Amino acid sequence: MIVLVRVFINGYGNIGRRLASALAVDKEIQLVGVAKYSIDDKVKEALENRYDVYAPKEAIGSFKEKGYNVTGSIEEAVERSDLVLDAAKEGVGYDNKKNFYEPMNKPAIFQGGEERNGERAVADMIHNSRVNYDKAAGKTYVIQGSCNVSGMGRVMQPLIQKFGDRIRRFDIELVRRWADLEDTKAVKDSIEWDRNPHHQDDVKDFIPNANLYVDAFKVPSRMMHLHQMFVRFGDGVVPTKDEIIECFRNEFGVAIINSAKGTGDVRKKALELGFPHGDTNMVHIHEDILRVQDDTVKIAYSDDQTGMVIPENHLLIQSMIFRRSREEALKRADNLFQMSKRRAILEEEFR
Ligand SMILES: NC(=O)c1ccc[n+]([C@@H]2O[C@H](COP(=O)([O-])OP(=O)(O)OC[C@H]3O[C@@H](n4cnc5c(N)ncnc54)[C@H](OP(=O)(O)O)[C@@H]3O)[C@@H](O)[C@H]2O)c1
Repeated sequence: MIVLVRVFINGYGNIGRRLASALAVDKEIQLVGVAKYSIDDKVKEALENRYDVYAPKEAIGSFKEKGYNVTGSIEEAVERSDLVLDAAKEGVGYDNKKNFYEPMNKPAIFQGGEERNGERAVADMIHNSRVNYDKAAGKTYVIQGSCNVSGMGRVMQPLIQKFGDRIRRFDIELVRRWADLEDTKAVKDSIEWDRNPHHQDDVKDFIPNANLYVDAFKVPSRMMHLHQMFVRFGDGVVPTKDEIIECFRNEFGVAIINSAKGTGDVRKKALELGFPHGDTNMVHIHEDILRVQDDTVKIAYSDDQTGMVIPENHLLIQSMIFRRSREEALKRADNLFQMSKRRAILEEEFR
């Protein structure tokens, strides 16, 4: 017998929309609905997708005046759920936790824009399915690491497992997209730096011993992030390029590609191939520019900003709620997102 878990998605932006379309077809999940706070064309989209739409109670009248059939209030949706996937704009998850989830005793998954430390911390762990999947089992509140943090864990952990203490340090130059494809905000013609990138501390939350340094630059693009990772080896024996590539051959959510000229090629290919939302949901190691020089291995990989965290949230549900083994969870995620198949297609397209 299938036990249905009732899930409410609080927020219907770039991440919430993607979570909704993935979970709506998972037979073990009953999608309670999605939250809308603004009255815009996304309400129509959600209703056309046959999701129940919930809104703040004081705004329900205004939604109805515009002809949108809202099912109920945010409180009612949380009450009807076994789990909330909070996909609110950055930082708002904390208020949702205090106003709704805690008083109603509901477990919740928060996204990477929320705080892990300090007064507005929402959870005591950041999940990365490659590193600490098991630790999330039975937890009430967990943060799913952001797209960049998820990608870093996915690439660093196989290297750490294979080469261990031989790795002296990791340095990552993170080249970030300015906006997502669906965002209406303008893309500014500038390269901006981040004075205090959160990614370094976030990764150390699940790989505490990593000697890791991250710098982040935002560039005028909507097409994925690119990480240039420098891995320094300390014992004078540096792995070959083939040894590095072998590390990733069977990794979930890692494609190894050769002939892309930039991140736009990968995103456009995903759109052309009809992948849901134009996402690949993975990182792509660019083998053509993977270099071994002196004591350093240089690995560049593009990271699908909007897609990365969707299977990660699904895996986190498998640990938190279903308490499945990681192996079983990966099988289910592979089935739902067709990761192996899409990886093979991408590797062939960019051979
Ligand atoms: N975009 C990415 O590539 C990406 C990748 C990984 C992680 N994340 C993280 O995922 C989270 C969401 O990002 P996003 O890109 O999806 O943002 P977004 O597109 O700006 O969407 C945010 C959503 O929050 C909704 N909202 C407003 N007030 C809310 C409230 N009180 N409670 C719940 N939702 C509320 C908004 O609703 P209305 O539209 O109705 O106003 C909007 O749909 C952030 O923590 C972000 O850091 C984003």
